[in-house]
Amino acid sequence: MSMREGEPVLAGVRERLSRVAGPPTRAQVVDAVQASGLVLGSTALAEMLAQVRAELFGAGELQRFLDDPLVTDVLVNGPAEVWVDRGRGLERTDVDLGTAQDVRELAVRLAAAGGQRLDDASPTVDARLPDGTRLHAVIEPVCASGAVISLRVLRARAFTVAELVETWMIPPGWEPVLRAVVRERVSFLVSGATGTGKTTLLAALLSLVDRGERIVTIEEARELVPDHPHVVSLVARRPNVEGSGAVDLSALVRNALRMRPDRIVLGECRGAEVRDVLTALNTGHEGGCATVHANAAGDVPARLEALAALAGMDREAVAAQAVSAFDVVIHLRRTRHAGEGARRFVSEVALVRRDERDRLVVTPALTWNGVGAPQEGGGWPALVERLGPGEGVR
Ligand SMILES: Nc1ncnc2c1ncn2[C@@H]1O[C@H](COP(=O)(O)OP(=O)(O)OP(=O)(O)O)[C@@H](O)[C@H]1O
Ligand SMILES: [Mg+2]
Repeated sequence: MSMREGEPVLAGVRERLSRVAGPPTRAQVVDAVQASGLVLGSTALAEMLAQVRAELFGAGELQRFLDDPLVTDVLVNGPAEVWVDRGRGLERTDVDLGTAQDVRELAVRLAAAGGQRLDDASPTVDARLPDGTRLHAVIEPVCASGAVISLRVLRARAFTVAELVETWMIPPGWEPVLRAVVRERVSFLVSGATGTGKTTLLAALLSLVDRGERIVTIEEARELVPDHPHVVSLVARRPNVEGSGAVDLSALVRNALRMRPDRIVLGECRGAEVRDVLTALNTGHEGGCATVHANAAGDVPARLEALAALAGMDREAVAAQAVSAFDVVIHLRRTRHAGEGARRFVSEVALVRRDERDRLVVTPALTWNGVGAPQEGGGWPALVERLGPGEGVR
C-alpha cells in the first residue's frame, strides 16, 4: 500500500491522535490504526505503523532519503520537484508529494517536530528535527507556492581526519600540517562555498584537540559533534512569539568567554558576531576556530570586512583584529561537475597577514586542484615557521 492509497486511513488515524495530549506513544498509534477499522496481519500492521509514524512524526515520503546513508541533502521545491544529494551533486527524484498544499503541510509538520511554528505570521523556519536533521523551510508567500524545504542530514559521528584522507578530501601530504595546526593551537578559519564540507572538516579537526582541553562550540543549530570528551555546545535561540527570549550568537560568544574555554568555536560566522569573535581571539584566547562562507580563500578578507561592517567595524579595525585573531585559512571546494568522481576537497591552506599597504590578505601556503600534485605557495615558509619543528610538516 502506498502512502497515497493509505491517505484516508491516515486521516482517520491523525484525527484520533489529535485527541491525545502530548506526543502519542507507539501503543496509542497502534490503537489509532486498529480503531481506524483497518484489519491487518502483523507484517502489514508493522508496515502501516512505520508509514504512519513517518507521516505523523517523520518526513513522510522523504523519510527514505533521510534514512539512506549516502544522502546528505534533501531539497523540496514543489510537490514533484524533490532533489537529493548523494555526494555526486544534485539528482532529481521521481517522488510525488501530492499538491502544493501537501508540501506546505509537510513543512508545517516538520517545523512542529522541531519545536517551531511555521505559519502566516512566521513563514520561515530554521530548526533541528528530533533525529538531528537540520530543517529550513519557507512557505507561501515567501516562496511562490506551497513550501520550499531544505533538509541537511546530520552524521551520527564526525569523520576522522584519516577517513578524510582516505576519501581524498585531504591530500595525504597535508595531514601532518592540519594536525600541527590543531596541536600548535593555531587559530583557523575553514572557508568554502555552501555545502563544501566546512562543518565536516571542522568537526574532524576538533576531534584532534588534546583530550585535556575544554571546547565550547557556538552555533545557530547544533551540527558540530566532534569526537572529543569535553565539548560544551551552545545553541542560539530565536525569539518566541512575543518577540522575547532571543539569545543570539554574539551573546553566546560573550558567554563562552566566561566558561573557561580552551577553544572557542563559532560554527559559522555569518553576521555581527564576527566582532565578538575577533575580540575574544584578541584577548588571549588562542586556538579559536570558525567556518565562513567564501568562494575562494582570497575572498575571506572581504567577507570578514563585510560581516564586521554589520557590527559597525571599519576596514582598518577588521584588518588589525583579524590578523592577530586568525593565523590560517583552510579552504574547501567541490569539483565542478556532478556525477561519478564528484568530490569535496581541501583546496588551500593559507596564511592571514597584512600586505605592505596594511590591507588584510590571505597568502596561499599550499594549494591543490583536487587531482594533481599539491603545490607549495608563497606563504609556505612562514607557515612552517608558525607550526614549528613538529613531526612531518617540513
Ligand atoms: N568527505 C565527505 N564524505 C562524505 N560526505 C561528506 C564529506 N564532507 C561533507 N559531507 C557531507 O556533505 C554535507 C555538507 O557538508 P557540511 O555540512 O560539512 O558542509 P558546509 O560547507 O558546512 O555546509 P553549509 O554551507 O551548509 O554550512 C553534509 O551532509 C556532510 O555530511
Ligand atoms: Mg556548515
